[in-house]
Amino acid sequence: RRHDGSLLITGISELTTNDPVRSHAHREAGDRLLGIVRDAAVVVTDGTIEWVGAAAEAPDADRVLDLGGRAVIPGFVDSHTHLVFAGDRSAEFAARMTGTPYDGGGIAVSVAATRAASDDELRALVAGRIAEMRALGTTTVEIKTGYGLTVEDELRALRIAREFTPHTTFLGAHVVPPEYAADRAGYVDLVTGPMLDAVVAGGGADLAAYLDVFCEPHSGHAFDGDEARAILEAGRRAGLQLRVHGNQLGPGPGVRLACELGAASVDHCTFLLDADVEALAAARGTTVATLLPGVEFSTRSPYPHARQLIDAGVDVALASDCNPGTCYSSSMPFVIALAVGEMHLTPAEALHAATAVAARSLGLDRRVAPGRPAELAVIDGPSHLHLSYRAGMPIVRALDLGAP
Ligand code: NIG
Ligand code: FE
Repeated sequence: RRHDGSLLITGISELTTNDPVRSHAHREAGDRLLGIVRDAAVVVTDGTIEWVGAAAEAPDADRVLDLGGRAVIPGFVDSHTHLVFAGDRSAEFAARMTGTPYDGGGIAVSVAATRAASDDELRALVAGRIAEMRALGTTTVEIKTGYGLTVEDELRALRIAREFTPHTTFLGAHVVPPEYAADRAGYVDLVTGPMLDAVVAGGGADLAAYLDVFCEPHSGHAFDGDEARAILEAGRRAGLQLRVHGNQLGPGPGVRLACELGAASVDHCTFLLDADVEALAAARGTTVATLLPGVEFSTRSPYPHARQLIDAGVDVALASDCNPGTCYSSSMPFVIALAVGEMHLTPAEALHAATAVAARSLGLDRRVAPGRPAELAVIDGPSHLHLSYRAGMPIVRALDLGAP
């Protein structure tokens, strides 16, 4: 028996490793995609995975955690959230459910509430939201700004986001704020000039790993293709990687622009033409299509054609988009259930999209393999199928490994 703080996690009925070499080659496609190992064990030391394999072959460790026949998965990677906001838009949601369509106009309500909140209020709101996420199995989170829309308020949101995650995104180009309604060009100049300069001076890629833009010519509030291109190119010149909100409310230039500029991800992808699907397929390995079905649920919009994307070879990720307007839910099990039930992904494809592919869109490798961080979640059930089979049940949580 060792005394090095190592922890043996055993009693794992089914382990999703996302590492195809871990699973027996003759197994069915879902098992191969997820790198499933049955009756598995994992050894973790100091937050790092040291050993993965069959429980019967597990080495000794300092401590043992017996999960008694539960499934273990990589923690969900929620690669698209807007957690830094104050205020409530439940009335807007209720109006939508009786027929008022979403157009992004409500973002100004959240901007006003967020500007009015103190740093500590925002910090407490983000902390509470992250605790909710961990309780549902999310271990890695990307956080966007976008409810400040002044130099000071965007910088403040980035600093607060950065206290919680290194995966931060500057979304000064969320919408044109009310004070610039008569001067759109002036706001684009602010974002690409003083606001971006302040991000660079405040830490550059260490403060904001990414720049994002809401490219939506149909909204009237967000940015058209030319504006979005100018903003994305400025971000790239400043050394930030790119993400794009594209094709959420109708067909448009966002998806093709993201692919052309080599963005890490283009998100929503709700309304796609064949040319968009072709661009995404050609951008495989560079640009991930991140689908956000909680938004379609909460805005009563048609779901994206996920099957078509996957069958075309596009890298498809799933994320929550947790935000006060189009989806105030950070539940990745809910997102997976929607992906399976409404978008016809297999349970294995959905889990892979919510872990491995979402991680890749953030430049991360979250295989459950020696040397990788032990970011794991446990399911109160024997297999990953229970995520969508038992939709709505509180059966998955991030695994807290505790102090040695
Ligand atoms: O990702 N599409 C734009 N932005 C958010 C919604 C923001 C809001 O309505 O507050 C989204 O859906
Ligand atoms: Fe979003």
